[in-house]
Amino acid sequence: MLLAGTMQATLPSIEILLQIIINNFLANSYCITFVSEEDINFQIPFSFTYIATNGTDLDELANKILDVSEKGCSDYIVRVKEPSIFMEAFEKVNYMGNARRSNRKIIMLPFNESDEDTKVLLDILLMKETSSIANILLIVPAITKTPGCTSYDLVTHKFVGRDDEVSMREYLDKWDSCTKEFERGANLFPNDISNLQGKIVKVGCFTYKPYVILDVDSPTGRDGTEVRIVEEFCRWVNCTIEIVREDEDQWGEMYENRTGIGVLGSVIEDRADLGITALYSWYEIYLYLDFSAASIRTAITCIAPAPRLLVSWEMPLLPFSWNMWIGTVLTFIISSLALILAMDCSSNKAFLTIFGMMTAQSQDDASGSWKIRSVTGWLLVASLILCSAYGAGLASTFTVPKFENSVDTVQDITDRKLQWGATHDAWIYSLTLSPEPLIKQLVSQFKIYSAEELKRRSFTRSMAFSIEKLPAGNFAIGGYITKEAVPNLMIMRENFYYEQNVVMARKSSPYTAKVSDLIGRLHETGLMLAWETQVALKYLDYKVQIEVKLSRSLQKAVKIEPLSFRHIVGIFYIYIVGIAISLLLFVVELCAKRERNELKPSSPIHLPM
Ligand SMILES: *[C@@H]1O[C@H](CO)[C@@H](O)[C@H](O)[C@H]1NC(C)=O
Ligand SMILES: *[C@@H]1O[C@H](CO)[C@@H](O)[C@H](O)[C@H]1NC(C)=O
Repeated sequence: MLLAGTMQATLPSIEILLQIIINNFLANSYCITFVSEEDINFQIPFSFTYIATNGTDLDELANKILDVSEKGCSDYIVRVKEPSIFMEAFEKVNYMGNARRSNRKIIMLPFNESDEDTKVLLDILLMKETSSIANILLIVPAITKTPGCTSYDLVTHKFVGRDDEVSMREYLDKWDSCTKEFERGANLFPNDISNLQGKIVKVGCFTYKPYVILDVDSPTGRDGTEVRIVEEFCRWVNCTIEIVREDEDQWGEMYENRTGIGVLGSVIEDRADLGITALYSWYEIYLYLDFSAASIRTAITCIAPAPRLLVSWEMPLLPFSWNMWIGTVLTFIISSLALILAMDCSSNKAFLTIFGMMTAQSQDDASGSWKIRSVTGWLLVASLILCSAYGAGLASTFTVPKFENSVDTVQDITDRKLQWGATHDAWIYSLTLSPEPLIKQLVSQFKIYSAEELKRRSFTRSMAFSIEKLPAGNFAIGGYITKEAVPNLMIMRENFYYEQNVVMARKSSPYTAKVSDLIGRLHETGLMLAWETQVALKYLDYKVQIEVKLSRSLQKAVKIEPLSFRHIVGIFYIYIVGIAISLLLFVVELCAKRERNELKPSSPIHLPM
């Protein structure tokens, strides 16, 4: 295929033209693929591949293109009888493969230069598959011919501008073989997405603060951190935004057959050119769509029921730890045994005496032997210390408020089997592939409820609610969390996971690279952070924001308060339980005695002599 310069004079003129185009416009191409039914001659200074289409059907052609496309070849030169089949295969490969390029170029050559052939070639521009390719160049025999020369028109589609003119033909230039010059010297690949001339770019989204807020009171009726990204994009490249609302299905989901619902569905079905609204870089979705550079880094965590003040019967038990209580009970048992031994194995009131001494009561009978006194004496000393220690502990329990344990980590959530939830399962898309048992458990505790149900539950302490921590220090909190409910909730200490938000588009969308460029610039200037703060100040409930932000420090504030009934209610519980048991025993005793009396009514009482 490589030819010496001297032979060029004998080349057909189309090959000379192609050579010029390659030299001028494809010099930076990574590699070029020729799809052709017969040989073409030209010189290429870099790598290329060749696909012969003789007798291949659509699937076979698609597989061949897939092969080269995965190796990084994104520019094609096509000379086939039925170019529409190539376009279909090309579109199919776009979804089969993983390679993606925003700036793919296709050059189509006439097959046999007949009128019929020209019509077939020009019809390519009307195909749906062509509408998503910015740079497609058709070389067709010229309408006005110069006698004695072969001349060609160079045609592309308009691509930019109003919807009804995007697929119209655009005559770029004319070349003829006598002069070997272009008539105008135009750029043959003019669509570099730098000026879309008001072309409509459809954006799939739904209201989710602070990313996207629709129906606001402003000239455009929309705002939000990600809305500002696409609006800035359109200001840059001169396009017009058309919102595709997905309020119903929100993030939605995607099916194997390349259909779907929600924002994801609108992008895969080409109902929207770009998809926004807190779309994370989900792996499963990446297989089907293009992702821009990451715009916002978010951390996902929950607001869980805040720990309440401990008000319970446990309060009298709190001054001592469990080990301490066990020690105290053992002391009681051992002292009682010692006293029984000291009293020559008589259990006469031994337990009662020891119990009394341990609660700082005096002995009823001080006239024991030295053996008894040595047991009770040491016990007096020990119980003095125990009682003072308990008293001190009780004082601090009463004055410093005690809280239940808080929900801080993922482990806490799974340990308590606490439900967490939101209105959509997009929150767990990032976790579902994890093989970690802890994460699996976490995923199984996720529940979807309607916004009303979530609002109701935010008052019942029955579940945690997922929220996002944004980079400028604000939170994305569902509207169902009201400022009345927030005081009962507390933000968790640990984040569940981090995610990168992206703008999604169809695979190899011409916009992806440009949107990524823009996002890079936005990061550079710090605009993303500024926007987040501006949007938060304007549209978020600041009371909710501040309360969530400070929820941990507010809860921890120690309040000293006078003693109230709340503090001693535990003691009364114990007292009531004690009384109840005593009464019960008393009644049981009475009944048992009457029964015995009734059984032996006439038995004489034998008094000891
Ligand atoms: C942007 O597009 C409009 C058409 O909608 C056009 O009139 C205008 O000249 C374009 N602006 C620039 C700077 O090219
Ligand atoms: C695609 O699959 C989904 C679910 O699997 C189904 O509901 C839908 O009808 C399918 N669409 C088409 C066009 O086959």
